[in-house]
Amino acid sequence: MSRYEKIVILTGAGLSAESGLATFRDSGGIWAQYDYRDVATPEGFQRNPNLVYEFYNMRRREGAKATPNSAHKALARLQREYSGEVVLVTQNIDNLLEQADAQSLIHMHGKMTKMLCTNCDARLPWTEELSAELKCPECELLGGMRPDVVWFGEVPYEMQDIAAAVGACDLFIAIGTSGNVYPAASFVAAARENGAHTVELNLAPSDTTGYFAEHVHGPATEIVPDYVEQLLNEPPNEGHLSKSVAING
Ligand code: APR
Repeated sequence: MSRYEKIVILTGAGLSAESGLATFRDSGGIWAQYDYRDVATPEGFQRNPNLVYEFYNMRRREGAKATPNSAHKALARLQREYSGEVVLVTQNIDNLLEQADAQSLIHMHGKMTKMLCTNCDARLPWTEELSAELKCPECELLGGMRPDVVWFGEVPYEMQDIAAAVGACDLFIAIGTSGNVYPAASFVAAARENGAHTVELNLAPSDTTGYFAEHVHGPATEIVPDYVEQLLNEPPNEGHLSKSVAING
């Protein structure tokens, strides 16, 4: 019997920052270099597909060079060793959690290692560079292949499963996310409403920091392995209520 029966962990770009992958909103981040409307919207793809191909091909090349860090590995360890259920929901499109052997993993913003054909809706594994010259392996039409990632204005993947997991968890942890983008940024409030203990593991307070009952701030490669170690060694009967009562005084 573990302290928590169901843990939901939401991760963002900060989880992969120490693996060398840029975040979006830190200074000098991706959105300081590119206008998201040009490279991460269906309209941008319509307007200038080659800029979108170049943007994701560059990120794919960066992703191919990156390796999982100790935070990715700690999350995979938690899934392996924790007796309760651990559901990982990531906003990231890299595959570093898979490389760290994480199991039940939901990529709510899609994956850089898959392509989507805008002509026939095929979704296929794809690790090569994408371009307008490519023919879709399914419909054989040219120019319709895009990265299978969720752009601004599109509906994130597996939202029903995510909502069910968030609504049923008794521990919700957010790691390396600024709490800027919805619906992901709304998960902590939903979890808290259902009585879950909520923890923010982040380099700095996020935009939703006020919703969390517990905060540990620092680099993910330090605070995530420490927090996982704590979860794995906690006595099952020490309820977090004592903690939140302490917090609420
Ligand atoms: N360790 C822990 N946290 C870190 C680290 C680190 N080494 N480096 C940065 N962070 C934190 C930052 O403090 C910030 O709060 O990670 C967060 C990164 O925030 P964003 O760059 O906004 O990334 P994210 O929250 O994942 O963005 C969400 O926005 O643009 C869309 O689709 C994109 O999935 C992305 C979504």
